[in-house]
Amino acid sequence: MNQTSIGVIGLGRLGLPVASLLSRYYPTVGLDIDQAKIDSLNKGTFTTSEPNCTTSGAAYYTTDYDSLVSSSDIVVVCVNTPTDANGNMDSTQLKECFKSLDKALASTSKNIKILVLSTLMPEHGEWLASFFSERKWPPQIVINPVWIAIGSVIKDLQNPPMQVYGGDSDKPILWAIKLWADIPSVEYHTPIITDTRTASFLKLAHNAWCTMKMSFIGELGDKAAQLGIDINTTSEFFRRGGERPGAFWQYGPSFGGPCFPRDLDFFNQFTDSGLGRRVQLINFSRLHNIAAQVKSKNTVLIVGKTYKEGVDITESSISLKLEQLLLKKSCVVDFLDEDLNELPGSDVSAYDTVIVLHRGYDRLISEARETSNLQVIDLWSTKE
Ligand SMILES: NC(=O)c1ccc[n+]([C@@H]2O[C@H](COP(=O)([O-])OP(=O)(O)OC[C@H]3O[C@@H](n4cnc5c(N)ncnc54)[C@H](O)[C@@H]3O)[C@@H](O)[C@H]2O)c1
Repeated sequence: MNQTSIGVIGLGRLGLPVASLLSRYYPTVGLDIDQAKIDSLNKGTFTTSEPNCTTSGAAYYTTDYDSLVSSSDIVVVCVNTPTDANGNMDSTQLKECFKSLDKALASTSKNIKILVLSTLMPEHGEWLASFFSERKWPPQIVINPVWIAIGSVIKDLQNPPMQVYGGDSDKPILWAIKLWADIPSVEYHTPIITDTRTASFLKLAHNAWCTMKMSFIGELGDKAAQLGIDINTTSEFFRRGGERPGAFWQYGPSFGGPCFPRDLDFFNQFTDSGLGRRVQLINFSRLHNIAAQVKSKNTVLIVGKTYKEGVDITESSISLKLEQLLLKKSCVVDFLDEDLNELPGSDVSAYDTVIVLHRGYDRLISEARETSNLQVIDLWSTKE
């Protein structure tokens, strides 16, 4: 058995299976505020329908934070973060949990590390750290979102689709990675190591994407019979990776070109819930937002005229749509596009604004960024 001791806080649908799995490899204690649950866990009478979730592995269960802190090197937080009446994340339980941890730490010189598995809002990492801001040696906090489904929690913990760790960049987080990597039954993936905001956001973004996929296939299915479409084959196509895994996940400008806008138009003719129209609206409003950043009458250089770099096709190019929006603001617009051999004067300082829609013009972009009073809008970067 590994010598690192673990304390799991919040023994619900996630926390109890987490404690069950960890207790097979680490000395583990479990904590919950629900006294009746703790009593029945200690008596061995607690029952759960979660497959393979045994409760006998933990050394003991408690409601006492002092006891948990004194028995743990790493504390794994699994308290609930439900939605409140206004649709916001209710952080009451998290707050109570961290207040209790801070209080327990006050009466000991022990240093613990905290791994948060609960689903969080992006700003919560910093907020949780603030509970310990008075401490000389605040415990390190790492955000470790998990992708599990009720009914297969232990299996999902053992076969995670990815492993994400969000921490304070000044401190190493090897201990958090090691916690899971040292368990032989847990599949190891090259971890995604990031800041606390991004780690929390990845969980929300992933689940939002799942809901969009479900809505998409749902919308197709609702129309399938009418259109003579076999929805099961359609689902199978996507399940087998028909969506080209990994493609189109690059942050960048809106989409254009001869295929996507046209095919989305066709899709919209079949469906009427508005999902596809919403996508068109987002695509167009992103161009509007760019145009809104440019002052009227500015002289503008748009880098890229074709619908993407490396092609000589301008059909449905967003560059031309953007030009229309800028002309309405009485701007003067030039294009720079090596694919079309359109190379206006190379002096970027002749412009008020440079808008980058194509990749591959790094030298020009850095020159533009160094030119004072020149507005640079690089659609491939979120950098100011
Ligand atoms: N259930 C899932 O499928 C799932 C999946 C991924 C992530 N999560 C996340 O895991 C977290 C927990 O979810 P859950 O479904 O297990 O919730 P749950 O409601 O089933 O369990 C939460 C447990 O925490 C306990 N608790 C509340 N406040 C406490 C405190 N101050 N100190 C100690 N214990 C406290 C509760 O008594 C309860 O037993 C949430 O953030 C959730 O979003 C859940």
